[in-house]
Amino acid sequence: MVLMAGGVGTGKTTLCLEFLVRGAEKGEKGLFISVTEASTKLLQNFTTFEFFRPDLVQHELITIVDLPIIYERLGLNREELKPGEVDILVRTIQDLVRESGARRVVVDSLTSVGFRVRSEEKARDFILKLGQAFSDLGTTSLMVAEVGAVPGVHSLYGVEEAIVDGVVMLSNVRRRGDLLRVLQVIKMRGTVHSRAQYVIELTPIGMLMAPFLKGGRLET
Ligand SMILES: Nc1ncnc2c1ncn2[C@@H]1O[C@H](COP(=O)(O)OP(=O)(O)OP(=O)(O)O)[C@@H](O)[C@H]1O
Ligand SMILES: [Mg+2]
Repeated sequence: MVLMAGGVGTGKTTLCLEFLVRGAEKGEKGLFISVTEASTKLLQNFTTFEFFRPDLVQHELITIVDLPIIYERLGLNREELKPGEVDILVRTIQDLVRESGARRVVVDSLTSVGFRVRSEEKARDFILKLGQAFSDLGTTSLMVAEVGAVPGVHSLYGVEEAIVDGVVMLSNVRRRGDLLRVLQVIKMRGTVHSRAQYVIELTPIGMLMAPFLKGGRLET
């Protein structure tokens, strides 16, 4: 379970999509659980990327589900979820993963589910239970977390970064008036990795990375 933490428009959704596409091309099914954006709109945006192949969705190698629709089906369409309902939600997500046969899962975003749960305590409970569920299922999952530009803060509830196996931070960095997208792997259990900052570019063929050259004046 990897946390994709970042600010607005840093490329979280695009990176998660590419992760599913690359997996599907290798025969690993993917599940995209959308909370913030309606799947129809998501699909529309996805098709502007050359690397996205709509046939992967048609052939159910990638399944996109709207969590708000699931809330409704479960009768959880009130503003706030009760503690028992958190368990129902986790179980439902678990069933969705099983039914779709997904090996790769994206939740975009964890933050939005957290808002629905309201209290921090319940949000933590949800994240811990979801983490356990994904671990039992043996999937590789990316959880999007919308976090601001507070240095060193990668999670909203303070537990995500501790329970996940990896944290990838995406940020907007201002340089000479331009806004650069910067990616940094904060942690990735069980592997050696760079902790350097990389400038990323979202291109039609996928994400490109280059070392972040420190020259020039930074205005963060
Ligand atoms: N076809 C495309 N080719 C290259 N870049 C694109 C294309 N379509 C969108 N983009 C870029 O991707 C950005 C959106 O990225 P994305 O939605 O992945 O970010 P995000 O971090 O998920 O944003 P949010 O905070 O809104 O959830 C757009 O602002 C635009 O700069
Ligand atoms: Mg997004």
